[in-house]
Amino acid sequence: MAKESLKIPKKIPTHLAIIMDGNGRWALEKGLPRLAGHRAGTENLREVIEACAEFGIQYLTIYAFSTENWNRPPEEIQGLMKIFRMMLDRELNNLHEDGVQLRHIGRLDKIDQELRDKVKEAIQLTKDNKTLILNIAFNYGGRDEILHAVKQLMEDGHKAEDLDEDLFAKYLYTADSPDPDLIIRTSGEYRCSNFLIWQAAYSEWYFTSTYWPDFGREELHQALTVYDQRERRYGEIQNIKDV
Ligand code: FPP
Repeated sequence: MAKESLKIPKKIPTHLAIIMDGNGRWALEKGLPRLAGHRAGTENLREVIEACAEFGIQYLTIYAFSTENWNRPPEEIQGLMKIFRMMLDRELNNLHEDGVQLRHIGRLDKIDQELRDKVKEAIQLTKDNKTLILNIAFNYGGRDEILHAVKQLMEDGHKAEDLDEDLFAKYLYTADSPDPDLIIRTSGEYRCSNFLIWQAAYSEWYFTSTYWPDFGREELHQALTVYDQRERRYGEIQNIKDV
């Protein structure tokens, strides 16, 4: 089906981050197992990635598996690992051809060796691509990231007086990405769930009740249209002369 032509808003976020929530409820409402929801949530990912490139977004970060998701039943954890593996097997060449650079944020150490190797190969293969940087947050937690940064800073011998926000940010998993301008959370939940808690200090948020598998190009466009109308003040005031 031909894509509907959509007017690209003037102000586009450089970095978009997404909490892809609602896969489980999407599946349960259809009488399907939860993993069917996660599989469906991988199908629309391709459309969202393509739309990000089309709209001129340069960085996309997706929350695929949190440090807290280890508390889910083992079958769901294994299923999510398998989905990640299959996505890399099936989509890596297409992503590479489309100029997508894959990066991973979080910890690979608890992930099994085969998947870890696939992630590393994908990062290596796509490292020079420039169309879109795709950060996959897998076994990622914001608190874990901050603790990891503090430990590394100490191991590197930094003193308290050396430390400022710029140096600290260099020790985060996202060191090579700007802070997210816009964060989308699907499924009608209103919380950050340990996602980019340092980096989101001045991000704009967009919440939608749509479950992740139903989120696509048109709703992304809607979110960008809302973002275009936001005024970002970073704690300042707009009109100093009104004071
Ligand atoms: C939250 O929905 C979603 C997840 C924990 C997994 C997200 C994973 C995907 C979309 C698959 C794509 C993944 C990769 C590896 C790139 P939920 O299960 O918490 O939904 P619920 O709140 O309705 O139960």
